[in-house]
Amino acid sequence: MDLLIINGPNLNLLGKREPSVYGSQSFDDFFSSLKLKYPSLNLSYFQSNHEGEIIDKLHEKGFDCQGIILNAGAYTHTSIAIRDAISAITTPVIEVHISNVHAREPFRHHSTISPVSKGVIIGLGLMGYTLAIDYFVDSLSTQP
Ligand code: DQA
Repeated sequence: MDLLIINGPNLNLLGKREPSVYGSQSFDDFFSSLKLKYPSLNLSYFQSNHEGEIIDKLHEKGFDCQGIILNAGAYTHTSIAIRDAISAITTPVIEVHISNVHAREPFRHHSTISPVSKGVIIGLGLMGYTLAIDYFVDSLSTQP
């Protein structure tokens, strides 16, 4: 099973960036632990600070991998183009946020991408990515 994690802007700084909000683990370390936890999955990871690169990756992988886990960072709140890219592809996308955006500033309460995502996991830290993987593994393995 091919699953792709995409992280958007500023998420390359996880571990260093506002650790009281986002924790102190780098995503590279976390991703290494995910690969050990799920040895039978073909897990890949892409991060970009650029909206167009995120869209290009959705187009590239969004017709042949089985699931995409997307934390679009601040583009979540602004990007109609990323929303349109999710609508254009056939692979289901789960939206993940590390922090509870609803407990933060009002501008973080709106997501352009939630309505076109399969589901949304918010505020559970890095565990949100693991829960999204578990969803794809369970739902895809029980498909007829
Ligand atoms: C975030 C929440 C966004 O509001 C913010 O811009 C981020 C990270 C999260 O994972 O909690 O960059 O998506």
